[in-house]
Amino acid sequence: QTAPDLPQTLLDWYDAHARAMPWRVPPADRRAGVAPDPYRVWLSEVMLQQTTVAAVRDYFHRFTARWPTVGDLAAAADADVMGEWAGLGYYARARNLLKCARIVARDHGGAFPADHAALLTLPGIGPYTAAAISSIAFDLPHAVLDGNVERVMARLHDIHTPLPEAKPHLMARAEALTPSERPGDYAQAVMDLGATICTPKSPACGICPWRDPCAARLAGTAADLPRKTPK
Ligand code: ADE
Repeated sequence: QTAPDLPQTLLDWYDAHARAMPWRVPPADRRAGVAPDPYRVWLSEVMLQQTTVAAVRDYFHRFTARWPTVGDLAAAADADVMGEWAGLGYYARARNLLKCARIVARDHGGAFPADHAALLTLPGIGPYTAAAISSIAFDLPHAVLDGNVERVMARLHDIHTPLPEAKPHLMARAEALTPSERPGDYAQAVMDLGATICTPKSPACGICPWRDPCAARLAGTAADLPRKTPK
């Protein structure tokens, strides 16, 4: 009897505990063959770059009701898009959003490219967002490393090197764990774990699907990680 592997343990947890989000295809639907809409994945990831899930929800609904496809958004007047964005902040994101939509509509036939390198060339899409879109929308095995995932990796492997120095190590760990089966659900599962269980303060280790393999839990260091270099 071998222990279930780490990604599979997390995927089993995600099947039971995935958070519902307006841009997310629930794991049961996804396993039944329902594919996410890359436009909605992209729009949500850009909105989530510097904004919380709770604050993004209403904006996401208003944008997708008014502009259901990337072609609709590409055809929108600049002032209308900036107006709908008002309140979300970091307005360069909205300007890049519109630029990106117009490039996808004009140069890619209205379909986001299913390719990490091609996504990276688009305005407003950096390494994190390209990895999020390629994994979540296209089920390609790219590791997403946001603050939640950094914390989960630092604890799982009991990495004491402070941030930001630790980032390359954490990325290497995240990449090594990313499965070739269901990488999109896996990416969202790690984010959910960091947001709901492996929280910055008082992590809920007792109900964590990775409590047994977690090196920081064993060492008693979970709540102290990740370390940060003082500013
Ligand atoms: N934060 C950024 N992208 C997310 C996603 N797809 N699910 C949950 N939290 C997120």
